[in-house]
Amino acid sequence: MNTIQIKDKKFVPYIDRKKIQEAIQKVAARINEDLAGQNPLFICVLNGAFVFAADLFREITIDSEITFMRMKSYSGTQSTGRVKEIQGLGEDITERTVVVVEDIVDTGYTIQHIKEQLRARNPKDIRVASLLFKPEALKCDIKVDYVALEIPNAFIVGYGLDYDEQGRNLKDIYVISE
Ligand code: IMP
Repeated sequence: MNTIQIKDKKFVPYIDRKKIQEAIQKVAARINEDLAGQNPLFICVLNGAFVFAADLFREITIDSEITFMRMKSYSGTQSTGRVKEIQGLGEDITERTVVVVEDIVDTGYTIQHIKEQLRARNPKDIRVASLLFKPEALKCDIKVDYVALEIPNAFIVGYGLDYDEQGRNLKDIYVISE
């Protein structure tokens, strides 16, 4: 097993790149079908979702646009429960269908906070697409419309996800081993 070390923690391979791509293609196919004709605006939540958003968006075949916002809620391997907006949204989303693109929904606080902020700008519909979802960790009443992969409540890195800003460049997803 290829154990890797990031700072003080060890991680082992968990989800390989092939499985990630297959899961993304399935989610993209559903979005292409559901949102055809609506010119959805994809909103990539930085930093973690940039790798997923790039791969997902290239599987989208319908008319669509993409933009970015930046949030922070994690410190080390724990959610702080407080969601901080680092960079907000510039676009007018009145009467538009938006798809919030997240790397992972853990407690759900980040998505809940983003949905509240977006709702105040009167969009037509807000959908959520997340690469990963930890159902056991969820602490809010939110719906994740498009989930590529469900995982148990364990800390992971790679494919855009970080431990203390490291590990985002890993092509596969790794899980903490100690
Ligand atoms: P939530 O607000 O608790 O749902 O957390 C969402 C954010 O926390 C994600 O966008 C990630 O940036 C970060 N996060 C949650 N779980 C993990 C993990 O296992 N590894 C790395 N980052 C995570």
